[in-house]
Amino acid sequence: MKICVLPGDGIGPEITAEAVRVLETLRGDGLNVELEYGLIGGCATDADGTPYPAATQKLAREADAVLLGAVGGPKWDNLARELRPERGLLGIRKDLGLFANLRPAILYPELANASTLKPEVVSGLDILIVRELTGDIYFGQPRGIEERDTEWGRQKVGWNTMIYAEEEIRRIGKVAFEAARKRGKKLCSVDKMNVLETTQLWRDIMTEIAKDYPDVELSHMLVDNAAMQLVRAPKQFDVMVTGNMFGDILSDEASMLTGSIGMLPSASLDANNKGLYEPSHGSAPDIAGKGIANPLATILSAAMLLRYSGNDESNAVRIENAVKKVLAQGYRTGDIYEPGTHKVGTREMSDAIIAAL
Ligand code: IPM
Ligand code: MG
Repeated sequence: MKICVLPGDGIGPEITAEAVRVLETLRGDGLNVELEYGLIGGCATDADGTPYPAATQKLAREADAVLLGAVGGPKWDNLARELRPERGLLGIRKDLGLFANLRPAILYPELANASTLKPEVVSGLDILIVRELTGDIYFGQPRGIEERDTEWGRQKVGWNTMIYAEEEIRRIGKVAFEAARKRGKKLCSVDKMNVLETTQLWRDIMTEIAKDYPDVELSHMLVDNAAMQLVRAPKQFDVMVTGNMFGDILSDEASMLTGSIGMLPSASLDANNKGLYEPSHGSAPDIAGKGIANPLATILSAAMLLRYSGNDESNAVRIENAVKKVLAQGYRTGDIYEPGTHKVGTREMSDAIIAAL
């Protein structure tokens, strides 16, 4: 399997280095992976004048999977929109057709106290958010900022377009139903159909697909209520499916139920299970270069890479079990530390994982 590694910015290079060490450890045991490196995000804009350079595009297109760290940082905050690091991420998602974003939020029992919610509300939490990733208001045309005559006189107006085609909804719906079928068989589709036509269509299509999945129980929820239910009683959810924008927001919310966003991996898949794998968290510029970032979300993303793009369930489970083991042994990076556990840095954490492997 050819893996394109894109470390990116901030803590990205530190955490991807540790995930790569884990993959290399498994390679010593017969895993067949070849790694190639490219630039994405702010570092790419610095080096090549664009956040998603042609050389990176070529590597990513030719690879079987992409392992990404994180992009962005204050250094690039004042750049034009096309040069911003986030454009690199949006560009590669669109370019590779990675429409299905899987964001699991799992509470490891050892970390029950790391959540800001009461342990009884979150213990045993295991939610999968399926977020559509290449449509919606993120990519809709037209968009822009322009001077116009308005009821308040001539002034700047900003606009974006929220748009979904039936087929776009259907393909993400199928991914979500398939995922639910392999888990607790409950799917909650999140929309805002009381206000937005796009999401009325979303609800109609989800209801239509449900006929092909009689074993999966489909429910619908308005996004404002879903945001509330996630903190009120999150364990009512098994799989949630929603559009790009709502999914962005709800997945950050869900991640915090588990205590630390530093623990959560993600997969972004195309129609053939080629995928991009990245931690759910960002580039954390405030702690970059200090050797204290939690590498577990990226290491768990490597596990997802082996599972979905490598069809290698056994090595994926091996990594996930190693993570459970080091947590049980008491190893904690700063973001999940509590008194009585053993505080470690980025490198020591992955050393422990490798020892467990
Ligand atoms: C995410 C991020 C991105 C998004 C940003 C960095 C463009 O927030 O992956 O959730 O909004 O999709
Ligand atoms: Mg986000």
